[in-house]
Amino acid sequence: MAFIVAIDGPAGSGKGTVANIIGKKLKLLNIDTGAMFRCVALELLRRKININEEEKIKDVLKNIKIELIVDNEENIVKLNGEDVSLDIRKEEVSNFVSPVSKLKIVRNFLLDLQREIANNKDVVMEGRDIGSVVFPNADVKIYLDASPEERAKRRVLQNKEKGIESDYETVLENIKVRDERDATREIAPLKKAEDAIIIDSTYIGIEEVSNKIIDIINNKRGCK
Ligand code: DC
Repeated sequence: MAFIVAIDGPAGSGKGTVANIIGKKLKLLNIDTGAMFRCVALELLRRKININEEEKIKDVLKNIKIELIVDNEENIVKLNGEDVSLDIRKEEVSNFVSPVSKLKIVRNFLLDLQREIANNKDVVMEGRDIGSVVFPNADVKIYLDASPEERAKRRVLQNKEKGIESDYETVLENIKVRDERDATREIAPLKKAEDAIIIDSTYIGIEEVSNKIIDIINNKRGCK
């Protein structure tokens, strides 16, 4: 039987890094659902389609091909055959993806795709609504959190590593706005599933968080 680990949490909580570590260590397929929303946002931007043009968005979704590939231990995101791993992280996409992720047609399309990709596989899937909507029966559900201030600090550091200078106060403000938007949207808002285990990564490092989750998974697997 397939084993499903759901990791949800706000932007900058470290869920991407943690899912990556856990996926590699436990040989679980790592599915970054945020990257899938980012692919749709990128395609709409490229075609200059705005979020009110439902018919055009439907057409885009009919033909879009999103693939999450692991090559030489590296996660690669492909959009219609093209490697867009870097393009989907650009500021322009980050700003547009939040309104795009509110659209019912987009959420429904990706919900089906997420379930299809995970079908019959052992996976760690990270996002905002995995434990609550995509896989309400997941074997392990984690809700990873951290204070907005800590998440802003991490984002500034990440940007610095990429050679991008950013202002802490502006990043913090953006994080708070995005949290509010993600938590209050009508469909599948960011929320902790009732039976999710909360881990706060504000004061503990990513390695320690990953080890905690690995222990939880191993305990659960032992029981399965
Ligand atoms: O995790 P991320 O920053 O790459 O996610 C990009 C956007 O997609 C973010 O604004 C929230 C949205 N998202 C979502 O609504 N549901 C998910 N399961 C994953 C991401």
